[in-house]
Amino acid sequence: MAGIPRKAVILMVGAFAKAVTTLLNNASVRNADTLLRLVRSRPPGVPLITVSNHMSTLDDPLLWGFKGFPITNSKLARWVLAAEDICFRNSLYSYFFRQGKCIPITRGAGIYQDHMNEALQRLSNGEWIMVEILIKACREQLHTFPEGKVNQEIAPIRRLKWGTASLIVRAPVTPIVLPIVHRGFQEVMPENYRSGRRPRFPLRNKNIDIIVGEPIEFDIAKLSRTATSMSHSLSFPAFGWPKLTRYELDEAAQKCLYMTISDQIRTAMQVLLSQTR
Ligand SMILES: *[C@@H]1O[C@H](CO)[C@@H](O)[C@H](O)[C@H]1NC(C)=O
Repeated sequence: MAGIPRKAVILMVGAFAKAVTTLLNNASVRNADTLLRLVRSRPPGVPLITVSNHMSTLDDPLLWGFKGFPITNSKLARWVLAAEDICFRNSLYSYFFRQGKCIPITRGAGIYQDHMNEALQRLSNGEWIMVEILIKACREQLHTFPEGKVNQEIAPIRRLKWGTASLIVRAPVTPIVLPIVHRGFQEVMPENYRSGRRPRFPLRNKNIDIIVGEPIEFDIAKLSRTATSMSHSLSFPAFGWPKLTRYELDEAAQKCLYMTISDQIRTAMQVLLSQTR
């Protein structure tokens, strides 16, 4: 019984995404095959984390509405980290977003909050988790550029928070990380439409540009050794994190490791962002 509503919700959301992204707007996707291959046929047990920029409230699910993306199999659909105060604010929302494969995350509660355990559980089952990252500078820059004006500048990406890196390190099998950047959803679902509100329904006839990057595979054991030696010469304010016994990482070493991983993801996304139109 529990499986039926999930299938229905995933199908409904997927159909909505197809309609908006493919039928009502003009989406172009580069390197889609890499994403489709990792979604459909990863080695068994290997989890996937996609990381993308956050441009509007509907990036996910609209991102998965491009032509060729499978929407009918709810098992293939991503789990997505979603803000608890927005998506889980009452029992109706909670039910809908739960069925829609959202994992609540409490903003500001840190990387050792209980909700992260659910995300880790999904990763240990070899599933796919989507993480959206707010890139403030990029968003502001887009708002200040009038439509149609080509923006060639590389938007600086704010330092990634450590949550994604900690999921990568703490997952029992290291996930494959796939960066994805997109532009255009901020025009499909603008924050300031009429009288400063979002439109009630996504807008049409906009160009959406999606670029899928190349998968990143992290060698956590090796990176841990480097982080441990690096951490001896640095000092951070202590948050009281538990030691990660698997790689013998104390808090300072964890922070060094998370910074290294976040920097690598951020650099990859920056390169992709510079290629968007
Ligand atoms: C749709 O997108 C493609 C690729 O970005 C572009 O070449 C084309 O001009 C767009 N079509 C319209 C109607 O804007």
